[in-house]
Amino acid sequence: MVKKEHFGTTADGREVSCYIVENGVISFRVMDYGAILLNVWAPDAKGRKEDVVLGFDTLAPYETQLDNYGATVGPVANRTADATFEIDGQEYHLPANEGVNNLHTSATEGLHHKLWDVLSGEDFVTFLCTVPDGECGIPGERHFVVTYSLTVDNGIRIHYHMTSSKKTYVNPTNHTYFNLDGQGAGYIGDTVLELACSHYTPVRKGAIPTGEIATVAGTPLDFTREKPIGRDIDADNEQLALVGGYDHNFVIDGYTGGGDLVHFATAYSERSGRQMDVYTNLPGVQFYTGNSMSSVIGKKGVQYVRRGAFCLETQYYPDAIHEKDWPQPVFGPDSVYDSVTKYVFSVR
Ligand code: BGC
Repeated sequence: MVKKEHFGTTADGREVSCYIVENGVISFRVMDYGAILLNVWAPDAKGRKEDVVLGFDTLAPYETQLDNYGATVGPVANRTADATFEIDGQEYHLPANEGVNNLHTSATEGLHHKLWDVLSGEDFVTFLCTVPDGECGIPGERHFVVTYSLTVDNGIRIHYHMTSSKKTYVNPTNHTYFNLDGQGAGYIGDTVLELACSHYTPVRKGAIPTGEIATVAGTPLDFTREKPIGRDIDADNEQLALVGGYDHNFVIDGYTGGGDLVHFATAYSERSGRQMDVYTNLPGVQFYTGNSMSSVIGKKGVQYVRRGAFCLETQYYPDAIHEKDWPQPVFGPDSVYDSVTKYVFSVR
């Protein structure tokens, strides 16, 4: 069942609505501003439901935040070196908003700051938005459709679809911050994580991939067997030092390029008994441990802390546009961008 409610009014006077979708076990709430995932209520081992994603109770902080709580980030999430890219010999420029590089397209004009149109049904909410040709330097008039739905296995499925009038650069993600013990539970060091990722893309200064695909074996980035997130987070390691913890793109082992959903992550907290399993048909995932989370007051007056949540942002590898051997985030006008990511909740 989908229930629509008023969420707030933007600084420039536009009405924002939110939508609650529930199935008796889990429920989620999304809003048309930024196609943002606001809440996910999931039961713990004793059946107590709690909100397991970080964010705010009101609209205003979502309009100005740089942490991207719950947001549909795009058209191009993550980093693009020198804020420049080329398609068919033509050079394009994104805003240089992190030194000389680009991060997450734009903090004002990205998908995460649009007011989307909405369609909803029994167990889904679909957001639609058109991005004009050239906005933030990216070619093509683009039609984005993002659908959140509840699945029979108690998952939240996010389906992204884009068509474009020109060949374009596109790599959206969802930037939800999870804490399986509840949004206000603090440091996630004891949460255990398993990633079916035997390689990752190392970074240089500025968190730009070096172009290498490196094994995780023998490094603190090895999550191929269940391991507490905090065990090696502060290990003496150049890759961790460069970004203040985990903030790396992991290469998903089972990626086929053929559209099959691959189960690549299991996160579990013994404290609550909650488990989250993540699936995608994209080639990579940014595992980010909230190393640069700003000190803000979140939902229910909770003071959020550094590393008080983790993100699993599915994606084409960051800066793939400059690494032609990697799967390319370039689509349109004759091909569509289409991807699915699913976060499934259960208890142990
Ligand atoms: C990036 C982080 C950044 C965060 C907040 C993540 O996707 O990898 O470096 O701090 O987003 O925008």
